Amino acid sequence: MKYAFILVLLIVASAGGLLGLVVAIRWLDDMTVTPRIVTGERVFAMPAGVVPRGGELVLPKEQRELAAKRPNPVKITEESIAFGKQHFATFCVPCHGAEGKGGVSGPVALKFIPTPDLTSAELQKQRTDGYWHSYIMTGGAVMPSYGEALSSTEAWHVVNFLRSIAAK
Ligand code: HEC
Repeated sequence: MKYAFILVLLIVASAGGLLGLVVAIRWLDDMTVTPRIVTGERVFAMPAGVVPRGGELVLPKEQRELAAKRPNPVKITEESIAFGKQHFATFCVPCHGAEGKGGVSGPVALKFIPTPDLTSAELQKQRTDGYWHSYIMTGGAVMPSYGEALSSTEAWHVVNFLRSIAAK
């Protein structure tokens, strides 16, 4: 009788221990398995039978080549440049510097990877509006994506601002 009691106690204790272990393991890698997908970073297939209302096309980072071919739907006007400049000041200046000249001109850039000179005539010629739009919306090699902070149209305005600061 005494042994049966000890046996039951052992079974209950080991079952409890096992459950505790499972909880501990799950808790330990909780943060590493949490999906974190930023808007615009990935595209998902629409569920069957739904119709999109509004919204703007944003191609994923993997399709940058295709995104680079998209024409800029926003005309370069004084207002567009001013609007883009305002957003550049909010989101981009910490890394790219107020003039977009890069290097270590932005306060964050001092502690981060130096950014390229966005006014560079060579870079300006090499990149299409669509390429930069995609860069802003979905991020670069280490540059974060701004698809969550800026709408697609706002990003085109920022591209227009970048064109306005090109070195002549
Ligand atoms: C956290 C720092 C950081 C912020 C904020 C940031 N960038 Fe960048 N950006 C970089 C770095 C670093 C690069 C160099 C390329 C790379 O590694 O992605 C870069 C590259 C670029 C390029 C050049 C891409 C090319 O090769 O043609 C453009 C254009 C650009 N950024 C625009 C912006 C705009 C517009 C914003 C604001 C919406 C912005 N960046 C915000 C760090 C940043």
